Amino acid sequence: MFELQSKYHEELRQGEAYTSPVVGDEPAGKKFYIESYGCQMNFNDSEIVASILQKEGYSATSTYENADVVLINTCAIREKAEQTVRNRLNAFNSVKKKNPSMLVGVLGCMAERLKAKLLEEEKLVDLVVGPDAYRTLPVLISGAESGQKSVNVLLSREETYADINPVRLNSNGVTAFVSIMRGCNNMCTFCVVPFTRGRERSRDPQSILNECGDLYERGFREVTLLGQNVDSYNYPLNPPAIGGGQGEVTFARLLEKVAAISPELRVRFSTSHPKDITDEVLYTMAEYDNICKYIHLPVQSGSTEILQRMNRTYTREWYLNKIKRIREIMPECGISTDIITGFCTETEEDHELTLSLMDQVKYDLAYMFMYSERPGTLAARRYKDDVPEEVKKRRLSEIVALQQHHQAEKMKLDIGNTYSVLIEGDSKRSTDDWCGRNDQNKMVVFPKGNRSMQKGDYVEVKINACTAATLIGEMLN
Ligand code: SAH
Ligand code: SF4
Ligand code: F3S
Repeated sequence: MFELQSKYHEELRQGEAYTSPVVGDEPAGKKFYIESYGCQMNFNDSEIVASILQKEGYSATSTYENADVVLINTCAIREKAEQTVRNRLNAFNSVKKKNPSMLVGVLGCMAERLKAKLLEEEKLVDLVVGPDAYRTLPVLISGAESGQKSVNVLLSREETYADINPVRLNSNGVTAFVSIMRGCNNMCTFCVVPFTRGRERSRDPQSILNECGDLYERGFREVTLLGQNVDSYNYPLNPPAIGGGQGEVTFARLLEKVAAISPELRVRFSTSHPKDITDEVLYTMAEYDNICKYIHLPVQSGSTEILQRMNRTYTREWYLNKIKRIREIMPECGISTDIITGFCTETEEDHELTLSLMDQVKYDLAYMFMYSERPGTLAARRYKDDVPEEVKKRRLSEIVALQQHHQAEKMKLDIGNTYSVLIEGDSKRSTDDWCGRNDQNKMVVFPKGNRSMQKGDYVEVKINACTAATLIGEMLN
């Protein structure tokens, strides 16, 4: 087994996350190196790629300098994400100049967006492989080895990689991500994902249950079910149904099935779309102690007019009603969001509406971005990117400041409470402390003391203090 060091910037989330290379033994034979950017689904895809390559006899290496194949799994969500990738390609290419047999491949959303253009633009790229074409990587690599420029960016309506058991690259051995669907059928006007990931398709529930069950058997104690829009998960079943009842498995049914694997296995999920999250899902969450009470519900804007222009298909009032519903059913539920500032035509009034919505909801966590126009999206075709950069920046800083204020208030409210915490490992600062998350997804740090606990154990922790993003406490007997 090898592990992957993670330098995941929580505050940046999708688009800027960075995985540093694999570390571990350096076995003989062909070696691949993989670096990943973007959302958790992209990280999970890298684990699928690693699995495909391992079957072909490749092993992972921690340094690209001595790899036979260097892969970069890319994100296209904002322009900045793509710039980061270009910088990395330059670094790889300077090594390739000295070692021309090394292959450099671009995978993921930027590969899908730019297609063969990447081969022309970046002269030293040998492979371009889109998110639905990873099974063809071994063939593409052999093609590239014999000097062909290899491209496969075909999107699929069926591919879910259901039968591929991801190699857990970035593993603490306790928490894992499991993709339950791919693609997106929503057409948020700002968003490139429907173009890079294709049509939405749900993965066979039995393969999801097998993967989660297997993780549990191997000592994992938390799974996060991943999809761009998990609430529209739907798998039609031919009889005999595996608990679908009415011939289909909905997201609520799937959640229930995963939660039933063991009360010791925590279940999380991401991302929910405000238009699709149902009461059935909320009641299922409330019913099972091991389904974490935490929902990531991206709002994007507090102004109905902007929401319409974004084609989010809900209004400010609809969104606030969903929040009310969540809190009625699960008063203790943690809620986080994504916000875009400076979308086309956004006025000061629109911006004020976003601030006032934040005041009403008081999010536990928010990922905040300046609007970045993506070529080919509906917004790029229909609207002018007309909010000046300095205005976007100023609005973003106001939103960030307000969120910091709310977050600090909310963290303080947790002081004095006791939470069940799943131990994920040593705290970053000290091997004398454990760290782990509570149900609401907040990081908790506490002294190990002289009790013999280990990673993967649940402990009751009383909170005594907090920093901006961490709760500090002590174990209870
Ligand atoms: N499927 C998820 C989000 C996917 S992208 C959802 O619908 O909520 C993650 C976040 O990136 C989005 O929620 C949005 O806030 C942000 N984002 C997407 N496109 C963007 C763009 N063009 N500019 C700035 N931020 C963007
Ligand atoms: Fe993009 Fe909207 Fe789909 Fe999310 S739901 S991936 S923001 S199109
Ligand atoms: Fe980025 Fe693609 Fe994910 S654009 S956010 S890696 S789906």
